[in-house]
Amino acid sequence: MVLILLGPPGVGKGTQAVRLADELGAAHVSTGDLLRAARREGTELGLRAQKYMDAGELVPDHLILDLVKEHLAGIARDAHVLFDGFPRTTAQATGLDQVLKDSGRRVDRVVLFEAPDETIVQRLSGRRSCPECGAVYNTYFSPPKVEGKCDRCGGDLVHRSDDAPATVKRRLDVYREQTAPLVAFYEASGAPFARIRADRGVDEVYADFLGSVEAAG
Ligand code: AP5
Repeated sequence: MVLILLGPPGVGKGTQAVRLADELGAAHVSTGDLLRAARREGTELGLRAQKYMDAGELVPDHLILDLVKEHLAGIARDAHVLFDGFPRTTAQATGLDQVLKDSGRRVDRVVLFEAPDETIVQRLSGRRSCPECGAVYNTYFSPPKVEGKCDRCGGDLVHRSDDAPATVKRRLDVYREQTAPLVAFYEASGAPFARIRADRGVDEVYADFLGSVEAAG
């Protein structure tokens, strides 16, 4: 199964994707995580992506499509794949269709997570992430046991630089301008499409998410 998680920044796509990927034994492909890893490793892609990410802009489509193709090549063809934060433009969506077609796959399910801007702004202001193991916390909703320290590995938690209020505002605008048109793209594509209200607790959102994936078979 190839599943796409769509939705604005901070709506909770990553939180839900990690949980479903664990349950299904699926590959979780987050282009944001792949780009942050490239930045940490100081690769050419990481250096090129940095200025876009810091400004809350999208990294150019050709760089993202190359990154996804390379990453997919390392995943078994029959594995379940959850795309989180990709595609983000119509060019990325058509590029993905082609890559999947070339390997005998297709998009099997699209799930759109929705929440009001105020919810998103609060979630992102409280988000803390562990750069060592990738665990994600929230100072309001799911704080770590010891402030500033990762429960899982003891690493120092960070507030992502692109979670600063001005950058969050820009990321929301970019979502509306460049990514929201994918809703119509996928509704017209014939792939099963579900909308989930994400301004509820993590467990409630997950129950609906899992239900919609199971309904798609
Ligand atoms: P990326 O890392 O993909 O960021 P994003 O899409 O903006 O998504 P986020 O990671 O901010 O949020 P999320 O929806 O995963 O929420 P989370 O689960 O963490 O991209 C970053 C940048 O990289 C982009 O701006 C762009 O520059 C570049 N980029 C990436 N992909 C690209 C692409 N395909 N093309 C071009 N450029 C690309 O949750 C947020 C917080 O809320 C957490 O603290 C969490 O604990 C909490 N939370 C989650 N769910 C709930 C809940 N139900 N109740 C209470 N709290 C909750």
